[in-house]
Amino acid sequence: MNRTMSAVPSTPRKSAKKPAEDPSGMICMDTPNSSLVFLVDKDGFLYHRYFGKMLDTPARIRDFVFEDERRYATFEMPSVFGGYYGGDPAVAVTHADGNMSSDFRYVRHERVRVDDNIIETRIRLKDSAYDFHITICCRAYQAEDMFACRMLFENGEGVPVVLTRFASFELNLTQSPTWWLSHFYGDWSTEMKLEEERLGHGLRIIDSKKGVRTSQHSNASFMLSMGGPAAEETGEVVGGVLAWSGNYRLCFELDGRNILHVNAGINPFASAYHLDSGEQFETPEFIFTHSANGKGAVSRRFHAWARRYALRDGDTPRPVVFNSWEGAYFDFDEKKLLRMMADAAALGVELFVLDDGWFGNKHPRNSTGAGLGDWQVNVRKLPKGLDHLIDRAEAMGMRFGIWVEPEMVNPQSELAETHPDWMLGSPAHERILVRNQLLLDLCNPAVQQFVFEAVDSLLTKHPRISYVKWDCNRHMASFGSAWLAADKQSHLWIAYTRGLYAVYEKLAKRHPNVIFQACGSGGGRVDYGLMPYHHEFWPSDVTDALERVFVQWGTSHFYPAIGMAAHVSAVPNHQTGAVLPLKFRFDVASSGRLGCELQPKDLTESELEFAKRAIANYKRMRDVVATGDLYRLNSPYETDNTSSLMYVLPDKNRAVVFLYLLRYRARFDYPVLRLRGLDPDKKYRLREVNKASPCGCCAGDGKVFNGNFLMNHGVRVEVKRPYDSVVLELACEDV
Ligand code: DGJ
Repeated sequence: MNRTMSAVPSTPRKSAKKPAEDPSGMICMDTPNSSLVFLVDKDGFLYHRYFGKMLDTPARIRDFVFEDERRYATFEMPSVFGGYYGGDPAVAVTHADGNMSSDFRYVRHERVRVDDNIIETRIRLKDSAYDFHITICCRAYQAEDMFACRMLFENGEGVPVVLTRFASFELNLTQSPTWWLSHFYGDWSTEMKLEEERLGHGLRIIDSKKGVRTSQHSNASFMLSMGGPAAEETGEVVGGVLAWSGNYRLCFELDGRNILHVNAGINPFASAYHLDSGEQFETPEFIFTHSANGKGAVSRRFHAWARRYALRDGDTPRPVVFNSWEGAYFDFDEKKLLRMMADAAALGVELFVLDDGWFGNKHPRNSTGAGLGDWQVNVRKLPKGLDHLIDRAEAMGMRFGIWVEPEMVNPQSELAETHPDWMLGSPAHERILVRNQLLLDLCNPAVQQFVFEAVDSLLTKHPRISYVKWDCNRHMASFGSAWLAADKQSHLWIAYTRGLYAVYEKLAKRHPNVIFQACGSGGGRVDYGLMPYHHEFWPSDVTDALERVFVQWGTSHFYPAIGMAAHVSAVPNHQTGAVLPLKFRFDVASSGRLGCELQPKDLTESELEFAKRAIANYKRMRDVVATGDLYRLNSPYETDNTSSLMYVLPDKNRAVVFLYLLRYRARFDYPVLRLRGLDPDKKYRLREVNKASPCGCCAGDGKVFNGNFLMNHGVRVEVKRPYDSVVLELACEDV
């Protein structure tokens, strides 16, 4: 039965069913350093009243609840369309009778201890006029000082409703009248550029409507600093990410009373979601933390949390990879690959990845123009098949990995010929090709099964493939799914992402030991939503080491080094004319998950010797880079000439320091690096590694210093040639 507007109570904010008893009270969630506080008033309205530094007496918040509080709805949780809050709402529901207003009241809450580290609080709300529920679920992670919150919408109305806003969570921040927002923007080859701005009043939105590859132009992450620009180790900073790989929206609204409202969620743009009766809609998690010690602490917490709860095998250092792409592109045969593999093995590489170009027979993949969708080995290029390459790789002491892009199809492919209805696109218009390809319709379960089988059968047929690079080289444009009904086309973006996750989920279960890399034309797929299915991500196609310093700096704000693939490539190459020293290139790549992506036969004898040495050094230090705490020492955005960072193992027994001279100023430079994160009382032997000349850059090489000296006086290095760089390894002498 369709409800009509007249069936709605004329005083919509008045609860139809009065709560049985006065529900008012506080709901407080703590981690060792922060508090998240909600308040329920006597009429059952929920307010999000505080997020920040730990409050020892949160109940005193009630002393500051003003009489007219509700009228301004400053803290309404969630902020709803049709409620008191007139700003950007987190939630909007259109009921079957056309009513677009909501009025949620507290029903109950419960607290569940999930394990030693996680406490989950669930707050149940119900619309006062409709059988429509929201459950706000917040997890507090004690050791990491982090929160992860999501909302669950449940339609019990007996008729469908339409969700037009469905944020994951929101924060109302009151601690400062002024806020600085740090966020990350870019484009192909310049991803994750850091930008910081003072928030003005009104709305500031960071979002993506690209459908897939959503992190290429802006990342679903941010930091907010109170009272001034964010500093690395001082000041109060709130950091947050949305764990979603489709369209997202981060919304910051500073109101006229200087309260900052933040809501984060799936982008509702063109995404009205029809929720049938009895159906639930679960949002992705919004993950956030508050630090009283600058953005460095925010990053370290996110890294620790990601390694423990998100990224696959987050504490296992990754192998050194050699990827065939920049050394061969599409132009290879068995002979060329085998030579490349032998050269890579001689350098000490542990895993060889065959990139794009190995598949397609009727429409061979010799360029971006054909073959996507036809996942059979190209018999002309590889007549002896993949197993032959795998055998040879193993004989050389390397594991083998492969590139796929199974969500995509070239019109010139057998797949497109057989399943024209599997391709996304407006049925009424010419399809828009990007890189000569279209997206498959992952809303369709048959397509999900195809994509799953394409990868599953590859891995089942060749069980020694131990690494998959999963690429995604276009965004969505020209919308339309032949699978979705006409009135559900707006589900496309959400259904696609959920379809993709369903495929990943099955693959991760079936192939638990295969390493998966997320790649989206470079950094188009760097997000927390993908982490549970991947071990690493490709932050950018740019392998120019100077540009990489910036990409990796930005990426490091939320994404741990263990998952940050970083490859040494040739110079000049297709991205850069700059001829950066091989040492600089290795030193930059060694601060992430080191790999190489070049033609080793083009290296000179001395370059090969250096590369071998640098790879051996990396293998010794990689556990520190992969699992250590990151300290960003000098920002490439702020300092005149240099950028530096370091990693320290949690037991503070070993550390690695990287310094890069970014701009040559025609004079000697002796930057002093004051180290951080060490134990002041421990004695560390300092060793310069990856030296390019016998004298090196650090006079203290080989000497022992205590942590106090290293952190207060610091280390002096000498960088005097264009793009000099320094790597220092510190090992505690007391163990
Ligand atoms: C884009 C990726 O980012 C590159 O690394 C490479 O895999 C190409 N696609 C292959 O087509």
